[in-house]
Amino acid sequence: MNRRAFLKAGTSAAIGALAVSRPAFAADTEISLSPGEPGAVISPHLYGHFIEHLGGVIYDGVWVGRNSSIPNTDGIRKQFVDDMKRIGAPNLRWPGGCFADGYHWRDGVGDASKRPRTYNFWQRRMPAALDATETNQFGVHEFMHLCHLVGAEPYIAANVGSGTPAEFHDWVSYCNAPVGTVTLADQRAADGDKEPFGVRYWGVGNESWGCGGTMRPQEYAALFRRFVTQFPAYTEPFLVATGPRGHSADGDIGWTTGFFEGMRGFEPPHGFSLHFYTDLRPTPLKAGDFKAAEWYEVLLRGVRLERVIDDHWKEMGKFDTAHRTKLVVDEWGVWYAPGSEITPAYILSETITLRDAVHTGMTFDIFNRHADKIAMANVAQSVNCIHSLFVAQGEKFVRTPVYHVFDMYRPHMGARQVPVSNPVPEMNVPALAGQARLPGLSASASIRDHRLAVTLTNPSVDAALGVRIRLTGGARVKEARGVVLTHQDMRATNTFADPEEVKPVAHPVKVVADALVLSLPKQAIVLVECEIV
Ligand code: AHR
Repeated sequence: MNRRAFLKAGTSAAIGALAVSRPAFAADTEISLSPGEPGAVISPHLYGHFIEHLGGVIYDGVWVGRNSSIPNTDGIRKQFVDDMKRIGAPNLRWPGGCFADGYHWRDGVGDASKRPRTYNFWQRRMPAALDATETNQFGVHEFMHLCHLVGAEPYIAANVGSGTPAEFHDWVSYCNAPVGTVTLADQRAADGDKEPFGVRYWGVGNESWGCGGTMRPQEYAALFRRFVTQFPAYTEPFLVATGPRGHSADGDIGWTTGFFEGMRGFEPPHGFSLHFYTDLRPTPLKAGDFKAAEWYEVLLRGVRLERVIDDHWKEMGKFDTAHRTKLVVDEWGVWYAPGSEITPAYILSETITLRDAVHTGMTFDIFNRHADKIAMANVAQSVNCIHSLFVAQGEKFVRTPVYHVFDMYRPHMGARQVPVSNPVPEMNVPALAGQARLPGLSASASIRDHRLAVTLTNPSVDAALGVRIRLTGGARVKEARGVVLTHQDMRATNTFADPEEVKPVAHPVKVVADALVLSLPKQAIVLVECEIV
């Protein structure tokens, strides 16, 4: 039985035998690409980041303090900067999340020893006797220095829930006005930075339907208009309005409809935020310990994102027929119930396994395929929180399997998307509620000059998949190289003691004139890069 027949039959017993007997370059399936007909540019910002004043994200994860023995640059953890640079992190969203709508930016500027201690939204989630009082040692300038060190664009989520339009406008002027113009610009210079920060990306609130103010969409739309009408435009802005809770059971289309109804007759925002968590908190699923059904449950919930993007895009198009407003998926990731925190104070930190890496590959393929609709996306969050790329605790620091997927997908950043015809049938898989159907392969491709990048994820925990990638339109492959991220154990993770348990290695790819032939191991993400003529 070949894999195609197996996928149709959906019997997992047979697949083990198939995996054993498969020769290295036999193809179960053929997919085709047309590099001569590229589509939208994949914005580098789809591979963006997010850090919030929450648990161990800012304090320890990013900020170790100027007097720390941990290697740092002006208080910022050096290893975090180096690794973020290495993957070309294009942006950083800050200061929240839910923290943002309780944050007052003036608390985080000026002499650090005189900054106030303030309430942090996440205080109420902390285990008893653990403190989360905000010290404001990491504030506006520290964030801007971090962005500068990484080479990332700042994306600030401004306070709408407990702030005012005036406070927002002052923050914008403080960041962006040239010195010698308004007083706030001179204050910025006196606080250490003469040059304007030139912040383009501004989020006008966060989750305004929840922690950002428990508003109805029309109420928020009215507030959005008040916040942006007098925006001090020293730098051409990209303003992001709060969008839906995309992982709600009903996809939260009502928020999108209500917001755009409230904006009828007014200038639409540049970006509309979409939060999409693969939310396992209401289930018994564990982050680090699971079997096949729980592996597939995560992937099944993750791929719902594609439908959610399509549905909201369609709804937005009813009001904004020219689609001037793009989606900004500024929080995404797999969110498990508590239980795998690295230390109780680092709330929302999770064990990140190969399962989360495979979920990441499938998510990035979705982003790439919808590059025409999405302006930005931000993983939640970069370190010590939910779907993180790093775990940091004091001197210890490790890259998770998710980090490696960010690294592998770098060639897509800024390249033009190439549509992939993917005839791989869906698989029958076990899931929490019984059998379900999951795509048998996830893929996306892009081209820059004559370099083609193809990313492929095999979600099966049982069987390898032989793939032939055919290039249409007369393109010929000159040379190719492959990289794979996988592990025999689906629960594999990287720990402080064993930091390289899951890491990418070279993977064989055979070049046959107008095609690439390779075998995708089970539970694996593969990148193929090739030169074409
Ligand atoms: O990322 C953690 C939290 O998830 C954010 O603070 C909030 O915006 C979302 O609900």
